Amino acid sequence: MNQPLLRSEERFHDQSFRSVALRTLNAFAVDVMTIPNANDLFWYVAQNVVGKLNFVDCVIYTCDLDEKVLTQSAAMGEKNPFGRSIVNPLRIPFGQGITGCVAQNREAIIVEDLLEHQSYILDTKPARSEICVPMILGNRVLGVIDSEHPDVGAFGSAELEILTTVAAMTSAKLALLEEAELSERRYRNLVEAHARLSRETSNRQALEAELFEARRLESIGRLSGGFAHDFNNILTVISGNLDLLDEIGTASDTTAETCLLDARTAATKGAGLIRSMLAFSQRSRLEPGPVDLQDLVQSTLQWSKQILPDTVNVTVQAADTLSRTQVDRNAAEGALLNLILNARDAMPDGGHLAFEIDNFTYAFQQSGRFSTQLSPGDYVRLSVHDTGIGIAEHKIQQIFDPFYTSKPTGSGLGLSTVYGFMQQSGGAVTATSALGEGTTFHLYFPADVRTEVTSR
Ligand SMILES: Nc1ncnc2c1ncn2[C@@H]1O[C@H](COP(=O)(O)OP(=O)(O)OP(=O)(O)O)[C@@H](O)[C@H]1O
Ligand SMILES: [Mg+2]
Repeated sequence: MNQPLLRSEERFHDQSFRSVALRTLNAFAVDVMTIPNANDLFWYVAQNVVGKLNFVDCVIYTCDLDEKVLTQSAAMGEKNPFGRSIVNPLRIPFGQGITGCVAQNREAIIVEDLLEHQSYILDTKPARSEICVPMILGNRVLGVIDSEHPDVGAFGSAELEILTTVAAMTSAKLALLEEAELSERRYRNLVEAHARLSRETSNRQALEAELFEARRLESIGRLSGGFAHDFNNILTVISGNLDLLDEIGTASDTTAETCLLDARTAATKGAGLIRSMLAFSQRSRLEPGPVDLQDLVQSTLQWSKQILPDTVNVTVQAADTLSRTQVDRNAAEGALLNLILNARDAMPDGGHLAFEIDNFTYAFQQSGRFSTQLSPGDYVRLSVHDTGIGIAEHKIQQIFDPFYTSKPTGSGLGLSTVYGFMQQSGGAVTATSALGEGTTFHLYFPADVRTEVTSR
């Protein structure tokens, strides 16, 4: 369009001009299909309006409908010769200047002579004529395509027809891009919702399994607690009678003496059994007091060191500051001893036995293995880890059951005692293990947060 040889009206009827424009617009329609985003689209349009359709300048403005303002998104021509960067980007409110009026009224404008037009905003390089067409989608104005010319009367029906077609194609492509983004967002939301649902379902299943497990142990506990209580009464009677027999003199009869000794040993064993069952059913007589867990671990290891062979390497690690816990010290040492014995049995060829102590806060929304056993709050956590034979996944549910044992001479009451004691103390015990890789027990003791001890 530089220095037009024909007037616009003549061009409108000129066959060769029309066929060139048509070919360009056809190519334009094909190219536009592959443009991936709005920014590339605007620059493509501006470059082609100037480069192929022979306009001397082209500016694409896009609308911010909330603020009712137009922003330059792409510009080609003498004022913006570089492409892909706008020298002096303008923001024009709706209703201001020619472009602002077109955005507001949604009607194309051709200005024959800008100097006579009241809406013309004088620029650094004044033009004399201007054409501006809106880009419309449904009842939304998306932006405007604007072109200026240094000559008076440079634009007419031919340019109006071309730019209106370009604007329609650009708007249609923008609608497609919007739709693509929307369906991508819908797809992303769907994927996210699905992931969330799967997470919630598996959390829920884990919780239900835990709840079931806790109820199962609770009902076994109630049963064995009642039984242990009654059986204890019977044992008391037996022991009393044995004492009596002892007193009334069977000492000279060695056979009777052996029988008496066996009976007494059995009664003592029975009493131990009953103690374990009462512990599991959380009916032990506990005397909680302030306990520094690191100290408890060290002293238990001290008095029990002869039960661990030299092939087992023991380490103790504690956080720099630890809360104290309120717990029955003797029962806690007993629980720890049970875990040490189990670890020893699990490492017949030696290995590593590691104790770790730290403060732990359990928040309500946190999902995890112990969520049904542990109330939200502060705990001191003692982790006992061995590098032994480990426990198969399908067996780990059973290890806290009373009388569950895999050992020829085991009672199967060690871990059930630990379980009952931890529950009765307001804490919990959990286990994780993998066959051949070792086992970790976590003991959560309620923390007395008012007292802190510095680690040694
Ligand atoms: N650290 C561990 N590594 C591997 N398996 C373990 C470990 N601790 C416990 N188990 C398994 O859990 C079972 C139950 O342990 P629990 O302490 O209750 O009884 P036990 O050790 O078999 O018998 P007892 O404690 O009377 O000697 C064990 O027999 C063993 O199969
Ligand atoms: Mg044991």
